Amino acid sequence: MKKYLLLLGIISMLLISCSEQPKEVQPTLQPKAVVGPADEPLEPIVVSDSKIKEFDITAKKFEFIPSTITVNQGDKVRLNIKSVDVTHGFAISEFGISENLRPGKTVTVEFTADKKGEYIFFCSVYCGGGHSGMRGKLIVE
Ligand code: CUA
Repeated sequence: MKKYLLLLGIISMLLISCSEQPKEVQPTLQPKAVVGPADEPLEPIVVSDSKIKEFDITAKKFEFIPSTITVNQGDKVRLNIKSVDVTHGFAISEFGISENLRPGKTVTVEFTADKKGEYIFFCSVYCGGGHSGMRGKLIVE
């Protein structure tokens, strides 16, 4: 019996607080109007459509592996390039990229592929007989 009374007391307190609260906060609005907006799902926040595309590239006499990289326009591109023999270079003229690749060290290059097309990347440090043919292709779709 005591428990029942206690429960009744709690319920009536809840009812009182529920019915009073809207009046205190917004006297002119119906309780439903006060509660309504809070129930609506939040709009997802879209920061950007672009994604980060990451590639590990090996440089050696006289090639880049992989030699073709394909990304979408607007992608952020991250290239982790490592020479496994002598010092090479890595350059993409159209994106203002020119790096020296010392043997055994990974060089990270980041840029935004903001224009469509096909761009040659090439070794920019003389590395021997096949230097001029040491190149690859970046495709931005
Ligand atoms: Cu590799 Cu020049």
